[in-house]
Amino acid sequence: MDARNGIGGTLTGLDLRAEIDRLRKERNAVILAHYYQRPEIQDLADFVGDSLDLSRKAQATDADVIAFCGVRFMAETAKILSPQKTVILPDMDAGCSLEDSCPPEDFAAFRAAHPDHIALTYINCSAAVKGLSDVIVTSSSAEKILSQLPADQKIIFGPDRNLGGYLARKTGRDLLLWPGVCIVHEAFSETELLKLKAQYPDAPIAAHPECPAVILDHADYVGSTSGILDYARTTPAQTLIVATEPHIIHQMEKAMPDKHFIGAPGADGNCNCNICPYMALNTMEKLYIALRDLTPRIEIDEDLRLRAKKSLDAMLAMAGGTVGQGDLGPARVTGD
Ligand code: 13P
Ligand code: SF4
Repeated sequence: MDARNGIGGTLTGLDLRAEIDRLRKERNAVILAHYYQRPEIQDLADFVGDSLDLSRKAQATDADVIAFCGVRFMAETAKILSPQKTVILPDMDAGCSLEDSCPPEDFAAFRAAHPDHIALTYINCSAAVKGLSDVIVTSSSAEKILSQLPADQKIIFGPDRNLGGYLARKTGRDLLLWPGVCIVHEAFSETELLKLKAQYPDAPIAAHPECPAVILDHADYVGSTSGILDYARTTPAQTLIVATEPHIIHQMEKAMPDKHFIGAPGADGNCNCNICPYMALNTMEKLYIALRDLTPRIEIDEDLRLRAKKSLDAMLAMAGGTVGQGDLGPARVTGD
């Protein structure tokens, strides 16, 4: 079969890295990747970041094509902020359990039942739920944005009850929580974490706020993916236990080869249950095909896009900062 047939055909014999580089130049494309992507994708991306930085980057780029190596809500955010650009996602099935936990019809009914509340919504949701929200937050911007809302403002927080619960405990705010969870961060085991901590008593624990409270209660640091990377860099500890999706350890090992990073364990102590199955759908082969064929492509109805853009614009204004702030910086310089 012809090597150019793609899925169903064979890509054997192609130097995928070289072909992706060629297509990136031909298409004037920028490749944006989240820290949970496979190492080989992180290594070829023009920019690797957390949800907030990837949103800022998508808005600021002058590329014609954004190849988004992350999950669908991230690529949708790029399209909402940069509608004139072609946004491709290597696998359109790359969803998110938090998005799935919050169907727009149910969220609309919940909002209607609480008309005196505003909706502060985690970016891990569909464009339709963004369109029903007042302000979007990411894990790196949530606390800062919450602190700008009047103390007596009633607030719905969805869809992540763990991030919402963490914010409520930390700030003392009374948030009305939507009951969604991330299947990946829910899978960490407190028992196994304590066994690991007993083995490495001097190793601090850094955790993402999508983890349940029983895990966060043991953490020395709680923060977004970029925050955890900053913590890894600044802690004097030589060994760090990392309670988030383990592909982030790739960036840590690259930046800090002398330190030792251990992924926090799941229930059987040795499972792969903390690998995000949605993020893992993106592969080099699918990225190559997406750049070659400019599909799968994100398309969003213009009315919906404008509604969703309002809550994202509110986030970008309230979060402040600039592209690249708070992460380890671009993997390559765009346009290289
Ligand atoms: P960050 O914004 O911290 O990168 O988190 C995104 C995410 O999906 C975590 O599961
Ligand atoms: Fe969604 Fe969890 Fe995967 Fe992040 S790690 S994309 S929250 S399922």
